[in-house]
Amino acid sequence: MKITGKELRKAWLDFYKSKGHVDIGAVSLIGDGSTGVMFNVAGMQPLMPYLLGKPHPMGKRLCNVQGCIRTVDIDSVGDPSHFTFFEMMGNWSIGDYFKKEKTAWTVEILTSVFGLDKDKLCTTVFEGNQSVPRDEETAEYLVSLGIRRDHIFFLPKEDNWWELEGTVGTPCGPDNEWFYPLNADMVSPVFPDDYVEIGNDVYMQYRKTETGYEPLANKNVDTGFGFDRMLLFLNGLKDAYKTDLFTGVLAKLEELSGKSYDDGGETTRAMRIIADHTRTTVMLIGDPKGILPSNVGAGYILRRIMRRAIRWCRRLGVSSDAMLEVAKIFIREVYGEAYPLLAEKEDYILEEIKREADRFEATLQAGIKEFEKCLQGIARKNEFMKKNDPAYVFETVLGGKQAFRLYDTYGFPLELTEELAAENGLTVDREGFDAAFKEHQEKSRVLSKGEAKGGLESHSEQATKYHTATHLLNAALKTVLSPDCNQKGSNITDERMRFDFNFDRAMTPEEIKAVEDLVNEKIREDIPVVYREMSLEEARKEHFVGVFDSKYGDVVKTYSIGDFSKEMCGGPHVERTGVLGHFKIHKEQSSSAGVRRIKAILE
Ligand code: ALA
Repeated sequence: MKITGKELRKAWLDFYKSKGHVDIGAVSLIGDGSTGVMFNVAGMQPLMPYLLGKPHPMGKRLCNVQGCIRTVDIDSVGDPSHFTFFEMMGNWSIGDYFKKEKTAWTVEILTSVFGLDKDKLCTTVFEGNQSVPRDEETAEYLVSLGIRRDHIFFLPKEDNWWELEGTVGTPCGPDNEWFYPLNADMVSPVFPDDYVEIGNDVYMQYRKTETGYEPLANKNVDTGFGFDRMLLFLNGLKDAYKTDLFTGVLAKLEELSGKSYDDGGETTRAMRIIADHTRTTVMLIGDPKGILPSNVGAGYILRRIMRRAIRWCRRLGVSSDAMLEVAKIFIREVYGEAYPLLAEKEDYILEEIKREADRFEATLQAGIKEFEKCLQGIARKNEFMKKNDPAYVFETVLGGKQAFRLYDTYGFPLELTEELAAENGLTVDREGFDAAFKEHQEKSRVLSKGEAKGGLESHSEQATKYHTATHLLNAALKTVLSPDCNQKGSNITDERMRFDFNFDRAMTPEEIKAVEDLVNEKIREDIPVVYREMSLEEARKEHFVGVFDSKYGDVVKTYSIGDFSKEMCGGPHVERTGVLGHFKIHKEQSSSAGVRRIKAILE
């Protein structure tokens, strides 16, 4: 290894400290709710208020190595370059230095510290548009620093503009991206084909508004260089899992499975997935605002990641305990120093991994039953059609919606459904699955954004009553239908409430009546609604239901209604259930695959 992870971390921080920067350390991976982005996807995210103009308590020159979570490419994890967790080496000028110093330092660190060949560096700058000028200034500084003019490319907004997607009110600007040949020994590499991006300097001097961009008072710099990517690259490797961050973990997986990482096929893929997903799991559970797997929000993403890892443990031929062994190595040998909280929370992290693995084993059984029902459905249809039409061609495809239900309700990864289908001579409608998945994702995105804006839109007396009624309804559904039913969203006006929850079929009239009756019974009992603040750990221990995990800080607000309902929630609520009157369900319908919607009123 030419440079280890620990050395690279230190080299970056030491360099920027020598240029007057303060190491502010990494912060939580969980988004703070203010942008609607669930996880930290860039090092600048926690610094948003300062980039927008608020003075930072540690000064105007900052640096750190910040963990980021990006799950959009989760299905690509398993190849040599994708991760769901990675770190970004960053440094910032909060209204201090600008293009002149930044270009100089980037060239200096890349060439003098990391030893890259200046003649091979390629870089791109913003070509300009109606609102923002072409970035000749940066290009001129680069030339004066010895970057070849024919290695500077002017590109449009799609390439050379950085902003946090899907947000408004956030800082952004044109950027200067850096590229180096993937194969450093290549004689005359051609841009862009032979090059990879190694990082970028964003000149953050605009604020994104609803309609366009407005200049910020401050001219900031936001730099991000991928830590894992740079490590790979400086060591002349092609496989990002070959860096020293993964050496111990892969050796452990080889030992446990008796297989070789280098086999290049399914074993390689399995080990990468287990390694990446376990690392992300450790980081998310062990985060300062740690989350746990659940069926909503960030917790749901964590659950998908964990179950995918568990599934691949099975494919590799090891038990899910392998995840525990891998987690221990990440905590003890790789990240404990940079993230001391992981070591403190080791037992807790390991317990939670074990718990989720056990839960998954249990749903696997239920899911297999459901899968068999799908098979019977197809067989029945085939039999019926054949009887009526001898020319009928047998159905051999399992529907996308069914596959998605298996995924969403029973936690079946698509590959598992495909495998089971193949054993029964069927294929799975992948497009249909993707469509159902997209629809669901879009719904969750809208939901989590709506929730991030701050819960209830109106706090009228009537809306407050409806809010308490959602808690009663949530608890009643868990009692009548299944403890696995969870709130997926709600919308309240003065006239009615809407409540979405996961359930895989329509409710029967009897079930609707039972839920109504139970809610009304609790209203008649006139139970006090009790508010308490407690730590997240305490709330979990006492089995409070957390609806949107990612939003909560360490201390959470909780409301309980006797022993019947316990929820983490910001309120407001009525004092006693007696004031709610009479609860009536007007409609129960499908909202999206695996999600039902109830419309109800208080009369
Ligand atoms: N914010 C920039 C990025 O994420 C540095 O790439």
